[in-house]
Amino acid sequence: MESKVKDPLLADEGKLSIEWAESRMPVLIRIREEFTDKKPLTGVRVGASLHVTKETGVLVRTLLSGGAEVALCGSNPLSTQDDVAASLASEGVKVYAWRGQTADEYYWCIKKVIESKPTITIDDGADLTASIHEANLGYIKDVLGGTEETTTGVIRLKALAESGRLRYPIISVNDAYTKYLFDNRYGTGQSTLDGILRATSVLLAGKTVVVAGYGWCGRGIAMRARGMGAHVVVTEVDPVRALEALMDGFRVLPMDEAAGVGDVFVTATGDINVIRKEHMLKMKSGAILGNAGHFNVEISIPDLESISTRKRRVRNNVEEYNLADSRRLYLLSEGRLVNLAAAEGHPSEVMMMSFANQALCVEYIAAHGKELEKTVHSVPAEIDRKIARLAVESLGARIDQLTDEQSRYLKSWESGTV
Ligand SMILES: NC(=O)c1ccc[n+]([C@@H]2O[C@H](COP(=O)([O-])OP(=O)(O)OC[C@H]3O[C@@H](n4cnc5c(N)ncnc54)[C@H](O)[C@@H]3O)[C@@H](O)[C@H]2O)c1
Repeated sequence: MESKVKDPLLADEGKLSIEWAESRMPVLIRIREEFTDKKPLTGVRVGASLHVTKETGVLVRTLLSGGAEVALCGSNPLSTQDDVAASLASEGVKVYAWRGQTADEYYWCIKKVIESKPTITIDDGADLTASIHEANLGYIKDVLGGTEETTTGVIRLKALAESGRLRYPIISVNDAYTKYLFDNRYGTGQSTLDGILRATSVLLAGKTVVVAGYGWCGRGIAMRARGMGAHVVVTEVDPVRALEALMDGFRVLPMDEAAGVGDVFVTATGDINVIRKEHMLKMKSGAILGNAGHFNVEISIPDLESISTRKRRVRNNVEEYNLADSRRLYLLSEGRLVNLAAAEGHPSEVMMMSFANQALCVEYIAAHGKELEKTVHSVPAEIDRKIARLAVESLGARIDQLTDEQSRYLKSWESGTV
């Protein structure tokens, strides 16, 4: 048995879905054409743990075009698009992914990817890389390097590197300008609201939306919620980011106070227990709780369970919790990232840039992995700039070029006040 997916018969549907994404991802398609010509990944075995979405399908096909073999598992138990998984499995990819996994099933899938003995890993959240390190298998010395897609994964892998235990180099795709400025901000901003709306279909105009965390994701969510007519409250622990939120025109409150005024709560911190029992006990009946951060630990589900007398599923992706005093709170997608669990994740246009970084970094690792120090590296600046240039072109826009005089001027110290 090479793959394990929910239903192989969904392959045709998945193929159409991947093709739809392809039509919106011209930069990745251009990289695919280069890969098809040069075959830079010949002999490379990629092991990937990614949200199995239609855009991931486009990335995987790009890696195959470069000559790689690919084994793929999900990076969240609730984010796999089963039709996409089926389609990729039918195209010769080893796929171990289906929507609605238990934690044991999720880690079984990661184990299957590890058994494919990847020479390059692609991770989103660092569960695959951490599992490879924990298993401490002999073949880890053959891994050329890996990439990491998200903020939380980068935090974990930097901690692993700082402890002196990182066994192969990692490129932090998350930290490319062409990733976090667009994916985390505009991607998460739009798709998180998309997830909340698909799950609940509530009116946002006039509601108070509390956004926990004013990082790259949080500011995208706050911006888009305001655009829908919501009153947005931001909570933060970092005074600089709180100041940015204030000057961007948002109200900033501690969660303790925000709890009583919010209609919809969205966490996007990468932190743990951001919404806890003491906050839940202050919330209005009907309050909706969703999370956009990587793990389902931002809203304390054990706390919610502990103060509830009854729980029932009232809609897809919506769990109603009855509190002892008859108030009701609504948890979206079991506290897992709502944009992927209740909607389709980021739009293809934004994943085009994130996954162009992934594809070019995999190519870079195939060529240079052996020379790289075993630590967490930035995306090479030339890759980041190439993607920005291609993405600008793909939007039909053009920019100016520095004249020779301007280039010289911008590198000089002699010219001052005239
Ligand atoms: N849903 C998605 O598709 C998606 C996409 C990208 C990133 N992510 C994930 O979203 C999370 C946030 O990513 P980011 O790039 O915005 O990170 P970031 O570091 O830019 O921002 C996080 C912010 O949260 C704040 N914060 C931390 N603890 C807090 C607390 N207890 N209360 C209030 N604020 C707190 C930090 O000060 C920081 O400003 C990460 O887990 C990341 O992996 C999810």
